[in-house]
Amino acid sequence: MEVIKSTEEIKSLNFSSPFALVPTMGNLHEGHLSLVKYGIENYSEVIASIYINPLQFGKNEDFSTYPKTISQDIQLLETLGCNYLFIPEKNFAENLDIIEPKFSDVLCGLSRPSHFHGVLTIINKFLRIIKPNACLFGLKDYQQQLIIKEFVKRKKIKTDIVSLPIVREKSGLAMSSRNNYLSDEDKKFCGKIYSCLKNLAASLKKKPLGVLKIEAINFLQHAGFEIDYLEIVDANNLSSVTKKTNKILIAVAAIYKKVRLIDNIVVSL
Ligand code: PAF
Repeated sequence: MEVIKSTEEIKSLNFSSPFALVPTMGNLHEGHLSLVKYGIENYSEVIASIYINPLQFGKNEDFSTYPKTISQDIQLLETLGCNYLFIPEKNFAENLDIIEPKFSDVLCGLSRPSHFHGVLTIINKFLRIIKPNACLFGLKDYQQQLIIKEFVKRKKIKTDIVSLPIVREKSGLAMSSRNNYLSDEDKKFCGKIYSCLKNLAASLKKKPLGVLKIEAINFLQHAGFEIDYLEIVDANNLSSVTKKTNKILIAVAAIYKKVRLIDNIVVSL
């Protein structure tokens, strides 16, 4: 695997088409690796990137303590057969015009008001300089991939945004770099988030959505989680469910021992 540390250099390379980009912030886990594997199986070449994007962290968030495991990450990518790793310069996020996302005023966007502006601004830069045929994202960050898909479509950027399934711990907890802040016991306990989503999904036709939502919130709060949000929305646009809704998103952000965990389930009607 070739490691590239300059924007000038990545711009000058000719990748063999079709090639895929897997943008990450490092501290790679099975979720990231599933994206790289998918890239290797479905494209001629795969470029992974590692960049802890300062623009997407709020003032009181964990930018400075975000887990960094670069040599381990390089080894994992090498073992999988990833072709390139791009590690941009520190100033990669400087002097960029901040991009206004759609669908960002709900769910995670409410408690992290500038988060998706930061994500979209950096992803736009990646897409413009690397011009991949596809860019791969995990569905754990459902709102993120929806926002990027809408933007790419609106701006007619010629990159397919491909969203791939959530990878879970044995307990059902969605894989996330922030799970590193939790003990093994905590991770097992936090499997309750997914069980709760599954129960809710199985009950969708049995009770009014408002009732299901309150029951799920009560269940998680009693279990010991602080709830940032738990919402049942139209998966196509994150707005209220209507008679026209054909796909429902059940999404949650729950805090356990100060660690903010997100998860979701999509149910086709
Ligand atoms: O999902 C992430 O890790 C980040 O939001 C991303 C897509 C790499 C942008 O910095």
